[in-house]
Amino acid sequence: MPHKALITREIPEKGTNLLENFEIKVLGEGVPERADLLEAVSGASAILSTVTETMDTEVMDAAGEALKVIANMAVGYDNVDVEAATERNIVVTNTPGVLDETTADTAFMLLLAAARRLGEGERMLRAGEWDAWGPKQLVGPDVFGKKLGIVGFGRIGQAVARRAKGFGMDIVYNARSRKEEAENELDARRLDLDDLLRESDFVSVHTPLSEETKHLVGERELSLMGEYSVLVNTSRGPVVDENALADALAERRVFAAGLDVYEEEPKVHSKLLELENVVLAPHIGSASIETRGKMAELAAKNIVAVLRGEEPPNPVN
Ligand code: NAP
Ligand code: GLV
Repeated sequence: MPHKALITREIPEKGTNLLENFEIKVLGEGVPERADLLEAVSGASAILSTVTETMDTEVMDAAGEALKVIANMAVGYDNVDVEAATERNIVVTNTPGVLDETTADTAFMLLLAAARRLGEGERMLRAGEWDAWGPKQLVGPDVFGKKLGIVGFGRIGQAVARRAKGFGMDIVYNARSRKEEAENELDARRLDLDDLLRESDFVSVHTPLSEETKHLVGERELSLMGEYSVLVNTSRGPVVDENALADALAERRVFAAGLDVYEEEPKVHSKLLELENVVLAPHIGSASIETRGKMAELAAKNIVAVLRGEEPPNPVN
């Protein structure tokens, strides 16, 4: 009997093709209903999940004894209860590395769009409200030559820094440990978070979501940023306190923000939706054709390795 692999959402063929020797069940294109997921997972040896599904003990129990691997098609795996999986000898894997450049592009796109008020301008133009070029119209802070503070200086944070160097930016960063090689390559300086927020013109957040990083950027931290500063978050929504950010933006204590992730996706804080000075993207950090193919392929490779009894390329437990 072939192993049963449950794929929670339709993924690029590069991934499904690698699993052709298994009995594959794909739940559908959209986010699966929880009840459908719990029913379909019964007897599965592998689950290929995405960030929209919570992989908790209920799912693991519903799968039963056969479950050997949960391969999350994402680098972040805060949707997976890794501790419970480990207790059950279930391997959890993710897809690091293949999405760094694409996600860094998204962060930089949001940084530029927020500073130069692209969303606001496009809304005005589409509403037929653009009457003429204006000397004071839609002006925002320059990006080139400014200071960029990167919170979380790992794969994606460093890829953002490389882009910033092309804009003549000065790089400072915060991470738990010092990154000497990257400091030398990017002429970057490590600062504590408060100093980074005080000194930076732009702040881009790239930590994983953990107990330590929940609301890492909250009301107090936002109060340290300057009135022409811009905050970008492409990490996970709960790393930034959305309510505090909405207040800071509304009161113009922070000039603008660019967000790709939200505290309760797909819900977006109602105050943010009303503000002109925030660019809102629907969690598209890694959404390039090439990268989504690579993520699907890597998630599938992790499954194949575990079910063959081999060490998978990207275990997280
Ligand atoms: P990574 O290489 O592991 O880098 C994470 C960085 O965060 C490391 O430098 C780490 O520092 C730092 N960090 C961890 N806890 C911290 C804390 N409490 N304070 C300050 N820094 C802390 O991860 P990555 O591959 O760059 O991915 C980062 C995150 O981006 C993912 O976990 C995911 O949630 C998110 N993401 C989102 C999208 C999207 O579509 N929007 C796409 C891809 C990734 P140390 O090295 O010192 O521990
Ligand atoms: C996407 O959000 C990821 O973590 O890969």
